[in-house]
Amino acid sequence: MSLGSSVFSTESYFHTQKPPDGLDIKTARMGEFVEHWRGVQGNKVVLVTSGGTTVPLEANTVRFLDNFSAGTRGATSAEYFLSAGYAVIFLHRQHSLRPFSRHYSHSLNPFLDLLSESSGTIAVSPEHTAKLLPILRAYHAAQVKGTLLSIEFQTVNEYLWLLKGVTGVMAPLGRRGMFYLAAAVSDFFLPEDKMAEHKIQSGHGTLSLEMDQVPKVLRPLVQEWTPEGYIVSFKLETEERFLIPKARAALSRYGHQLVIGNDLHRRKYEVVFVERTDGRRKTGVEDIPGGAETPPLEDANEFKETWLRLADLTRRTGNGADGEVEIEELIVNELVNRHDRWIADAES
Ligand code: PMT
Repeated sequence: MSLGSSVFSTESYFHTQKPPDGLDIKTARMGEFVEHWRGVQGNKVVLVTSGGTTVPLEANTVRFLDNFSAGTRGATSAEYFLSAGYAVIFLHRQHSLRPFSRHYSHSLNPFLDLLSESSGTIAVSPEHTAKLLPILRAYHAAQVKGTLLSIEFQTVNEYLWLLKGVTGVMAPLGRRGMFYLAAAVSDFFLPEDKMAEHKIQSGHGTLSLEMDQVPKVLRPLVQEWTPEGYIVSFKLETEERFLIPKARAALSRYGHQLVIGNDLHRRKYEVVFVERTDGRRKTGVEDIPGGAETPPLEDANEFKETWLRLADLTRRTGNGADGEVEIEELIVNELVNRHDRWIADAES
């Protein structure tokens, strides 16, 4: 596989790549949700993006490229945002983990294993009741209050259009809107005019793909689409030494408030918050075509880092159901404080 050299700007991307089916309906649902919660005094709304995006190889898609993300970070964080009083738009990859139901995922804790049968009646086995009860109560509370809206995407194209749409409808929230961009977004894609219409036939030897770079939508999101929102992006690396320099580079480049760095293998136990010492936004630097990952020079004193770690790495066994600490709880606690300060700054 060779990597292509074409570079789409965000503008040319949305100009050339068709919006997905159902975009208007989904955007309208998110708009109604935001309008409702905007009318509730003091209420805050967070957009949580979650799971991986796919890159189809054929228009009639049989094959696609994918990535590792199961959506744990997003689904878990969404629960903690709900319990902190936020209204949550959960923009997630189809079939990835979801708030509440993640506790009994097929692989970790199969649903049928929780049940017992007696004289034709099915019930949750007593040994599982204590774990399930708080989850069920939180789930019902979110349903009754209407604080959780889940919207699905699959491809990177769907994700980008939906992100643009939801950012537009959240703009009127001003500082009360938070963006928590935990989805694992593909960096390369096949534009429509390069994509095979039908299933690529085998039997002709190797397959060569030339892919284009997906524009970093963080730039317009920060600088144009939501000038007041509190924006948290994630930086994923597989080598820890890149985390802080790349996170700083993203802050310098895009000008938003916070980057959460995580290492692929340690992400469930350890993350680092990288932010400007004054906690403010700044105007990002000019875009360098094709240079989205090229760090601009920055002054180290301008930034501070805060590591969050679970004290005992063995405590997280998978689904947070038995009182174990999950790193997302620590992350969300920190974010709520920062978001409140961001809101209060404007009012003072
Ligand atoms: O789901 P889990 O298994 O729990 O894993 C969670 C996670 C590791 C996926 C999550 O914590 C995480 O790090 N998500 C971000 C992964 C990612 O896309 O990193 P990146 O370095 O490619 O992008 C950095 C930021 O730029 C992201 O916030 C992304 O929203 C944004 N981006 C990415 C690509 C793109 N074309 N435009 C963007 O704006």
